[in-house]
Parts: sequence; C-alpha cells; structure tokens
Amino acid sequence: MKMILDVDTGIDDALAIAYVLGTPQIELLGVICSYGNVQARQAVVNTRKILSLFRRGDIPVICGAGHPLSKERFEVRPLSMKVHGMDGLGNTFLPVDEEEIKTDMDVAKFLYDTATRYGEELTIVTEGPLTNLAAAVKKYPDIVNCGIKIIIMGGAVCVEGNMTHCAETNIYQDIKAANIVFSSGLHCTLVGLDITLRTLLTRNETSEWRKTKTAWGKFLADMTDYYIAFHEEVHPEMNGCALHDPLAAAIALRPEFVTIFPCCLKVLEEGPNEGRCVLDLVAMNQGTKNIGLCVDVSVEKFILEFNAAIKRLLKISG
Ligand code: BDR
Ligand code: CA
Repeated sequence: MKMILDVDTGIDDALAIAYVLGTPQIELLGVICSYGNVQARQAVVNTRKILSLFRRGDIPVICGAGHPLSKERFEVRPLSMKVHGMDGLGNTFLPVDEEEIKTDMDVAKFLYDTATRYGEELTIVTEGPLTNLAAAVKKYPDIVNCGIKIIIMGGAVCVEGNMTHCAETNIYQDIKAANIVFSSGLHCTLVGLDITLRTLLTRNETSEWRKTKTAWGKFLADMTDYYIAFHEEVHPEMNGCALHDPLAAAIALRPEFVTIFPCCLKVLEEGPNEGRCVLDLVAMNQGTKNIGLCVDVSVEKFILEFNAAIKRLLKISG
C-alpha cells in the first residue's frame, strides 16, 4: 500500500515513521510536517534526522502548516517539551541533516497530486493537527472524490482528553480544520485516545532494541525510554507509554486489529466542552457515516506487529 504520513514529529510520531520504514508492505511516498509537539520546521528537521539515520533520505519531507488555520502563530506548549524533550526526540540530539529543508513545496498540492495519481491505493495517516489536510480540502474540494483513505490519530470520544478534560491534543490544536475534514465526505478512520491509551510499550521492548548494540537500536531505545519515563512520572498506573501515532499507522495496513463504529462526528467549537468530538446526529440522520470510529483494539496483536517491524528495521539497518 502507498502512504503519506502527516506528522508533528515528537517521539510517538518518530516511532510511527520507524514502524512504517520497518514494514515492507508500506511504500512511504512522502512525509508532510506541521506544528504540534514541536514547531513545523523542527518537525521537518526531526523527520529528516530519522529518515537519514535509517538511510531513507530519498523520501521527500515537506514543511506544511506552521499554525492553525484561524491563527497567525503557534507556540509549543511547555508540556510538549516535557513529554517529547527539548528537541522533540527525547533529548537524543541526533546530528542535524545539513541538506536544505524544502519549504517551497505546497503541501495541499502535494496531497492533491498524489491523491489523483494513486486514488484508492493511497492512505494518508495524520499524526498531528488536521491543518494540512483541511487546507488541501479547501483548495482542491474534489480531493474527496479520489477514493483515498484517511486514518486520523486524534480525538477522545468515550474517554477523557489529554489537552482538556474532554479534548485530545491533535483535534484541539485546530478544531476548525478537524471539522472541515470530518464534514468533507472523505472516508476517515478515527484512532482516538479511546484505544491508543490501551496500546502500551514497556522497557522490556526497548531493552531488546538496545541489545542490538547498533546506533539505530540505541537511538530508538533512548528516545522511547525518555517517553516511558514521562509516563512513569505522570501516569504510573499505565506501566508503559502510549503508542498513539504508531497505532494509527498500523491500522492503515491492519484494519482487522480494530473494531469500528461507522458514524459521523463533529467537534464542538466553543463552550466548556470546546474540542470535544461528538456524533453529528444531523448528518447521521441524513445517512452520512463517512467516519469509522475505532472503539476496540487487539492490543497484543498490535504490539507484536509493531515490535516485529522495529526489529526488522533494526536488522535491516544494522
Ligand atoms: C497525539 O498528540 C501528540 O502529542 C502525539 O504525537 C499524538 O499524535 C496524542 O494526543
Ligand atoms: Ca503526533
């Protein structure tokens, strides 16, 4: 299958990229970046660091939105720096790839051109705010007729949020963009905190990676242990770190890992529950069910799949 990843490259985004690189059934056509865990430009730098570390510098990385659709600027939250480190990659401070960062390519055009070229073969996995995809829908409305699939890491429908009591970070960061995407008619699957908070990685797995004694294994283990340490401090009951973004990428290939409730969703744009995803009953009563909401996940199968991909990647690279 062909895939585009849309990332705000912090630690779990980096793990999603590593998962995709270690999965031969997925052809990664490009990575587009946005603000979120880090500034968009840092997301580009981080993405390039990972791709070049794993010798896949051939994959295009494009700098997308630097701020939400209806705002002029974006500041990284102090909590994001705590979760993902000062560099967004768990303070691993990998050397920077000096090649020029492409800021001139139009992300909306890249999405549209790739969608029209590959149609049903293409899945776009969004791992950050939905600003880039919303921009493509606004600029090229017929992108919704290309037959592409969208997997969205975002939302907290039946559980509490991680940005506010009811809102998940990726959705909250650009609520208007999320509503543009949800109401566009695009075929979307929503991979929310409802299931991502159940797919946990522990130090057992990272110590296996470390044992490879390769630069690649050490980098992934150091970065992920930093993320696990944050979870240990703030959510000791979880006993591991949540694989939000890798789960979304894996579901593109393995939809059988999840139970899906077909529906239509909208995001509340104001009031005390701003950022909360709820059913769009008006649309549903008109028969619209373009969003597959993931309500359950085969945790063991996913963790096995994820870890197998990482081990494959480490072996290939080592
Ligand atoms: C999502 O927010 C970001 O911090 C993570 O990378 C993930 O995409 C989880 O709410
Ligand atoms: Ca992310």
